Amino acid sequence: MADRGREPVGDGAGLRTEGDLNLSPHRDRWQDEHLDAASRALLERDARHFLHQSLSTPCLDVVRGCEGVELIDGRGRRVMDFHGNSLHQVGYGHPRVIEAIERQLRELPFCPRRFTNEPAVALAERLGELAPGSLNKVLFAPGGAETVGMALKLARYATGRFKTLSMWDSFHGASLDTISIGGEALFRRDVGPLLPGVLHVPPYASEGLGRDSAEYVEYVLEKEGDVGAVIAEPMRCTTVVSPPAEYWQAVRESCDRHGALLVFDEIPIALGRTGRMFCCEHYGVEPDMLVIGKGLGGGVFPMAALIVREDLDVAGERALGHYTHEKSPVGAAAALATLDCIEEEGLLERATELGRRGLERLQAMAERQPLIAEVRGLGLQLGVELRRDGRRADDEAERALYACLTRGLSFKVSDGNVLTLSPPLVIEPEQLDTALDIVEEAIAEVAASPGPAA
Ligand SMILES: Cc1ncc(COP(=O)(O)O)c(C=O)c1O
Repeated sequence: MADRGREPVGDGAGLRTEGDLNLSPHRDRWQDEHLDAASRALLERDARHFLHQSLSTPCLDVVRGCEGVELIDGRGRRVMDFHGNSLHQVGYGHPRVIEAIERQLRELPFCPRRFTNEPAVALAERLGELAPGSLNKVLFAPGGAETVGMALKLARYATGRFKTLSMWDSFHGASLDTISIGGEALFRRDVGPLLPGVLHVPPYASEGLGRDSAEYVEYVLEKEGDVGAVIAEPMRCTTVVSPPAEYWQAVRESCDRHGALLVFDEIPIALGRTGRMFCCEHYGVEPDMLVIGKGLGGGVFPMAALIVREDLDVAGERALGHYTHEKSPVGAAAALATLDCIEEEGLLERATELGRRGLERLQAMAERQPLIAEVRGLGLQLGVELRRDGRRADDEAERALYACLTRGLSFKVSDGNVLTLSPPLVIEPEQLDTALDIVEEAIAEVAASPGPAA
């Protein structure tokens, strides 16, 4: 049996946010039933050598391959991956991405910081052309959190203000600065002092606050008076909650009125997932800064980018990023190949069409399955919220996850009771249908059995 480490603090209720819990009786049971001896042995070594932390070690299972929309687990079983840490827009191991990386590795594997290189400049040019409106200056970093950190620093230099406004329940990365603006207890609790001047508002569409909580943002910006940046995901990726377009238009106007920069974090959601290259295009609102990452590296390479308005190029004598792998030629080659795939394989249109198909199927499923309280979607980002008799069905959602894993489908459970379905955009319609059949079978199974007491 794998060493599962200590139990979660309390009942885990306030900690069910960004993803499914990695210490739970449901997980223990699933592992007891499904893992073979070799997988168990590797999980034990993992738990022995890696620091334990929520959402990862101790881990669920072993992966020994990934290809297209699938993971291949330790037993050689294929599992459709609708989780993928939101980085598999073009699927795993896309031949074009792999080929570009291999070629770049042979030509120029690394570029020290005081030099530049062709793929990095080409990527900067391309992102500047693709990004909405006047966003055309970029800075790269290996990861999303670092890139959000660069945006926070630039906002301070550009406005002379250090305060920020962000949302409760949000996630912008796991570093100290990003958990400060983030709003999840799992990351913020017990860690000591966070950044000063980080103001939070309830997320759009909070229960009981109505969907039009843009007035709340206006109120805080007005009262506080010196907020430098408002930072948010234009659509909450994990719970698939999207505000009406008027929300962002109103927030944009509030930012302009009060001298705050609007920063959109599109790290998990840009590059086609919602059917547009950038999610904010759905709302007709242009931010001052845009942060992307994850899928930019083609599901292979750590690569993220800050894209800002040209007139925000105001910190030439300061260090905004200064990361070792700042202009990675390999990361840039992976990103350029990824953008080629998205454009040439029509992945934006595909996300829109398959997203519509998926959402319609989920809507029909909701008619048949009383556990489904609401289904939501934008492009190929789909969410299924489970409730039983009006109350959040956290336990049922977790059991549905394990019932799906048994049948060959993986996804994330967000906020305790939302099944978050993020398939690669290259998925075939029939594969999507099969996955949604699995979701329905699992939900029906969970609804029919009270399940062992957790
Ligand atoms: C909305 C959002 N912002 C930021 C991040 C952080 O990105 P990274 O894990 O690359 O640091 C994530 C990662 O899940 C995210 O979902």
